[in-house]
Amino acid sequence: MPTFRFKQSRPVISSQIDELNAFAQAKLDKLAAKDLKRGLVPTTRGVGCSVVRDGEAAISFCDNDYLGLSQNPRVVAAAGAAAIRHGAGAGASRLVSGDSPLNHELESMIAQIKGTEACRVFGSGYMANLGAVPCLVGDKDLIVMDELSHACMRAAAQLSGAEVRMFRHNDVADARAQLANGPEHGRILLMTETVFSMDGDLAPLQELQALCEKFGAWMMTDDAHGFGVIKQENPALIQMGTLSKAVGVYGGYVCGPAAFVELMISRARTLVFTTGLPPQVLGAAVEAVSIIRDDTQLAKDVMSKTTAFTNALGLPKPSSTIVPILLGEASVALDVQAKLLEDGFHVSAIRPPTVPEGSSRLRVAFSAAHELDDVLALAESLKKHLPKDVLEK
Ligand SMILES: Cc1ncc(COP(=O)(O)O)c(C=O)c1O
Repeated sequence: MPTFRFKQSRPVISSQIDELNAFAQAKLDKLAAKDLKRGLVPTTRGVGCSVVRDGEAAISFCDNDYLGLSQNPRVVAAAGAAAIRHGAGAGASRLVSGDSPLNHELESMIAQIKGTEACRVFGSGYMANLGAVPCLVGDKDLIVMDELSHACMRAAAQLSGAEVRMFRHNDVADARAQLANGPEHGRILLMTETVFSMDGDLAPLQELQALCEKFGAWMMTDDAHGFGVIKQENPALIQMGTLSKAVGVYGGYVCGPAAFVELMISRARTLVFTTGLPPQVLGAAVEAVSIIRDDTQLAKDVMSKTTAFTNALGLPKPSSTIVPILLGEASVALDVQAKLLEDGFHVSAIRPPTVPEGSSRLRVAFSAAHELDDVLALAESLKKHLPKDVLEK
């Protein structure tokens, strides 16, 4: 057997280490001064939305695992079975030798559920947006986008090189104004989320599609927080989403007309130049999507728990499984987060730049796996810890 020897790499000179650390530390200090420094807390997830964070047990109300499928025994068993059958990794890009047949099974199921001609699976929702948008528009074209669209939609728009115009959140009249005076010869793409990730409200899809038809634009929706939970008639030509939220696993997809979905195999850089999803992820996703297809009770269950929560706090009827509680300053959101954790609830404070400046919040997210008693206990804890005027607004 030959032995491999690596040459000792040249040690980095210590002044460069100091220089980079000083550069990064100055940025970290600035973030900390504004309560915007982020941290990682090792979290072990268990059944029924239980978590152990840094040794502390809590019930989590901030996962996107809306149907509890990440812990579903059928889904977990499918992951194991796929790894045993196909191995732990894809081995290469889908275009080379990493195109497990499980990708195609998953794509057929998703296209069928969405009612589109075809579907392509990507490594994640972020990668799906980054891959698809530059296949649709380029530097002579225009993107018109809801101002609250997710960071990866913005990144995809920027990557495409198209001019980007934002319209006020869910404001159809402003969307119309942005669509007017578009490029003379270029294409126009209108992008929005179906269910807004930080606000939980729904986009006016029919009105936006009517505008697209009037202005000759294509509509693309990000259904990350709708798929499997919120049944909305969606007329969009291109529909992307993720397998990491209600599906409970990992990965992303883009659905649309067959030739466009075929084009992405040659042109979507986040599909071409990256390794295929591992078989255990695909196997789990196939099982989870089949549960979503066949079991409508789970979606009803999570919505009834979300409604029990909003009723308990006198909040408006929820449109989705996401209930934002706006607190304004980041420090206030962090303070309430800490108090809830003392009562055994993990609800993450969401701060800029994830949400606009001055709109820090608790984003409470529900799952079919929550116990109703825990949902009601969280409402009681919030009544105790929220600043006085918050529930009166
Ligand atoms: C609206 C929206 N789109 C896309 C994504 C990215 O999906 P993924 O986590 O699969 O990369 C997210 C996830 O946070 C999201 O909220």
